[in-house]
Amino acid sequence: MTRRLEGKTAVVTAAAQGIGEATARAFAAEGAKVWATDVNLEKLNDFEAVGGITTRRCDVTDDASIADLLVKTGAPDILFNCAGYVAVGSILQTSEADWDFSFELNVKSLYRMHKAFLPPMIDNGGGSIVNMASLASHLLGVADRAAYTATKAAVIGLTKSVAKDYLPDNIRANAIAPATVETPSLQERIEATGDAEAARAAFISRQPMGRVGTPEEIAHLAVYLASDESAYTTGQIHVIDGAMSL
Ligand SMILES: NC(=O)c1ccc[n+]([C@@H]2O[C@H](COP(=O)([O-])OP(=O)(O)OC[C@H]3O[C@@H](n4cnc5c(N)ncnc54)[C@H](O)[C@@H]3O)[C@@H](O)[C@H]2O)c1
Repeated sequence: MTRRLEGKTAVVTAAAQGIGEATARAFAAEGAKVWATDVNLEKLNDFEAVGGITTRRCDVTDDASIADLLVKTGAPDILFNCAGYVAVGSILQTSEADWDFSFELNVKSLYRMHKAFLPPMIDNGGGSIVNMASLASHLLGVADRAAYTATKAAVIGLTKSVAKDYLPDNIRANAIAPATVETPSLQERIEATGDAEAARAAFISRQPMGRVGTPEEIAHLAVYLASDESAYTTGQIHVIDGAMSL
């Protein structure tokens, strides 16, 4: 049986852990040749024995690092922009440094990645771009996530703009908007509260299904959006939230 991404090349950012890692593995399992990238090269070592995956350091806030990656990968068929950072706090609790860093990593990185990868993807006949947004965006106000929510609304806006502008070039761009997902950074946020048990219970209590999502569940959606199965879908926000927004 033909695998769903057979013959395709994929670039994944922030692939060393969490959703990016699960998605790199899922892409490879479906036959893609995957470039798993992260700013943290050491943490990419887990991929060493995984067939179909090549690792490469890439800092999505650094033009030179992105250009260096592009030289290696050439034009991918699939670009999964997964890198992102959760700043915690209301607007009055958010420092200017945290605000600026959030936009640098969550939004300007997309500016940089699209500027680098879109032209070769267009020259190559098109492809699928998947951008990592969040339910915390214009979709839902989430307490103490001011900068984060603003950045993810921007991710969705850019995704729609790219989908519209490059439709004639056979480029599709979609955004994934998850609710809380069990990843290392979630665990860090839980531990940072000082009362991990209460913090975990609070995360779970806002999920109607009584649990948070898994990285693998998000990866399944990313595979669909990366593959030709989703050929009739572009510029959309794909919510995957265990009914949090219902
Ligand atoms: N975990 C959740 O609950 C959740 C929910 C909705 C959306 N998201 C989004 O999903 C994405 C992944 O989150 P996660 O929780 O799976 O992963 P994570 O936060 O646990 O890991 C993030 C990864 O990004 C890498 N990274 C950090 N700075 C980088 C840079 N400059 N260049 C390249 N890589 C860099 C880190 O090394 C790390 O491997 C993020 O955009 C996040 O906002 C996560």
